Amino acid sequence: TPNEHAFDKQLATNPKSDAEREAILANPGFGDYFTDHTAVVDYKVDVDGVGGWSNARIEPYGPIAMDPAASVLHYGQEIFEGLKAYRHGDGSVWSFRPEANAARFNTSARRLALPELPEEIFIESLRQLVETDQAWVPSGDGEALYLRPFMIATEAFLGVRPAREVSYRVIASPAGNYFGGELKPISIWLSTNYARAGEGGTGEAKCGGNYAASLAAQMEAEAQGCKQVLFLDPFNDNAIEELGGMNIFFVFKDGRLVTPALNGHILHGITRSSVMQLAADRGLKVEERKITIDEWRDGVDSGEITEAFACGTAAVITPIGELKTAQGSIASPGSGAGEVTMAIRETLLGIQTGAVEDLHGWLTRL
Ligand code: COI
Repeated sequence: TPNEHAFDKQLATNPKSDAEREAILANPGFGDYFTDHTAVVDYKVDVDGVGGWSNARIEPYGPIAMDPAASVLHYGQEIFEGLKAYRHGDGSVWSFRPEANAARFNTSARRLALPELPEEIFIESLRQLVETDQAWVPSGDGEALYLRPFMIATEAFLGVRPAREVSYRVIASPAGNYFGGELKPISIWLSTNYARAGEGGTGEAKCGGNYAASLAAQMEAEAQGCKQVLFLDPFNDNAIEELGGMNIFFVFKDGRLVTPALNGHILHGITRSSVMQLAADRGLKVEERKITIDEWRDGVDSGEITEAFACGTAAVITPIGELKTAQGSIASPGSGAGEVTMAIRETLLGIQTGAVEDLHGWLTRL
């Protein structure tokens, strides 16, 4: 029954003032500021070995008290999601395909031996948090309230086994462009010293460890003046996999849109799947398949590949101007924002913000 998971509400006694919040919303950046509340649901396995979710609540945003032996702190038993709440012209607030995030969260949970969270609790937690902190949903161009659901193993023990105490939480952060400032094409760096994921590993799960593992490569990218790192599969002809925190697409002159096929270690991006649908709607021929770094280089040289872009909830759709490698660079023609990339971006953002009709039923009112 829905009431079983009704959220108690404890409001913050010292929320940010209207002036403080307005100052943040005037220039939100990405991931630097958080709203006044958080959603929390506890999970426990009882003496009979039966697990259950309880204690759903909204509480003031603040530090988490946790035992230093909590297993998330040692073995990284953690998963997360990312989605956004968009304000429409009439003031209403909507989320984009949240049931897809709920499903992926549970796929990640199974891989990390964490408990699955019922989809209704996932959606209700977003609804409760956004209702409580609705003044934080920005209305500027390309802005939204970024929602970050996550699940952590809080049981205190040092044996390596799945925790019997877990906490599910949601925090929210007003967001503009992930890469800061106005949208412009990014440079990315080709990692050859590191792989992101391997056969049978956690690459497909949205777990914190994958992102921790990307950081050494991301530091190399930043030292080269690049915003993201591109990972290959060194055991498969250097097939292109994905960027540190987003998926990748290539636009071909003949009307094809190509992205690496999901191979068990590429993240099942919800923006990725939406882009494929919107591209097909535009009459592009979408191909999910193996694409190597050599094909990218040759395709740019021959003029066959005209655009490349990154996509994700945080990145939305961001044109790739250039791939830098230790052996020279592959520059997109004009190093600019391609026409197809920008058209798909505009349609996607239009649907999300209510300016374009939602023909696929992707929006859920929060
Ligand atoms: C997202 O796109 O929501 C992510 O989780 C990726 C991260 C780079 C913020």
